[in-house]
Amino acid sequence: MSLFTGLDGAGGYLLLLVVTFAMHALLIGFVLGAAAWATMRAVRGGDDVVAAAARDWLPFALGAAITAGVAPLLLVQVLYQHRMYTATLLLSHRFMAIVPALIAGFYLLYLGKTARVAAWGRARRAAVSGAALAAFVFVAWTWIEEHTLAAAAPEVWVAHYRDGRLVHGDPVIAQRLVVWLGLAAAAFAVGAAWLTRRRAEATDLRRLGVVGLGGLLVAAGGVIAIDRGGSASVPAPGMTWLALAAVAHAVAALGFAALVTDRARLGRGLATGGVIVLFVAVSAVREASRAARIEWRSTLVGAQGVFLFLGFLAISLAAIVWCARMVRAHLGSEPPART
Ligand code: HEM
Repeated sequence: MSLFTGLDGAGGYLLLLVVTFAMHALLIGFVLGAAAWATMRAVRGGDDVVAAAARDWLPFALGAAITAGVAPLLLVQVLYQHRMYTATLLLSHRFMAIVPALIAGFYLLYLGKTARVAAWGRARRAAVSGAALAAFVFVAWTWIEEHTLAAAAPEVWVAHYRDGRLVHGDPVIAQRLVVWLGLAAAAFAVGAAWLTRRRAEATDLRRLGVVGLGGLLVAAGGVIAIDRGGSASVPAPGMTWLALAAVAHAVAALGFAALVTDRARLGRGLATGGVIVLFVAVSAVREASRAARIEWRSTLVGAQGVFLFLGFLAISLAAIVWCARMVRAHLGSEPPART
């Protein structure tokens, strides 16, 4: 049975959730990776074209990633409203802490682009991008915690409320975070390889290839840890997607290996295709597991609005592309001095 059929009319929403969540995860991946690269570069001192592109694009990428989070947020509510709301209410201030964390992270990204911060010493520059990175990792952790609590059995909710806890502890949260951070490195390596394609030298592309390969390895390690922990059961409708994810993982790895061995064109092409398909497939496996584990929202059958949603999706995408072109048009044309 396909993941998107036989779901009492929910298939269309599920498909939209898989695609829009994959877009959110790709952009978030770029943000996490770019903040980590900028931080590492500040720690080591000097500059390079990838770090410069990361600093230039980070505020825009974060804005796009957050915007891309709104669509899956709507769809998660359409599909699993009762669970989503329960988990959010139980986590309370703990969940809402993502708002000040994101505001602080956003501000730090803009600060990191200023001439004043560029003139600071290594430690202070690293503190600026490192603090932004920490804020984003905190937000990632929070979303995973929310996702895990929403899918938990009602007895877990009762115990959580009874004990007055704000934090939901589960070993799978850290394991999922490892998977997402690994995938983030791969998404960043692809994004940076395109953003720097006119300026990057062989060394830059080799480094990006290594980051991409390392990320894929870490993500695979995270999946193995989840499997060993017993939380990785994939139901029948998710198996095709799991196989697709494995193929895409291998193609992306070949692409990154080509970057490491100085075959830039081939590397970029394979890594891009592999990573995009990988994110969509992982998103589908994730949804297949959840759809098999928990019940739909009871009023789902009468839910409407798919066409309105698609209309606004098209408008938002057009606006994001327009903003991206504006950012590109206002970037400096001089590459930073390599050190
Ligand atoms: C730097 C900021 C952010 C980071 C690093 C981040 C990261 C993540 C991660 C790692 C997940 C996967 C959770 C899992 O599979 O267990 C996720 C899910 C999600 N995020 Fe984000 N996120 C960010 C901001 C946002 C914002 C601002 C929104 C809303 C506008 C949002 C909406 C969502 C939604 C709806 C999901 C899916 C939840 C579910 O399926 O249960 N995210 N995010």
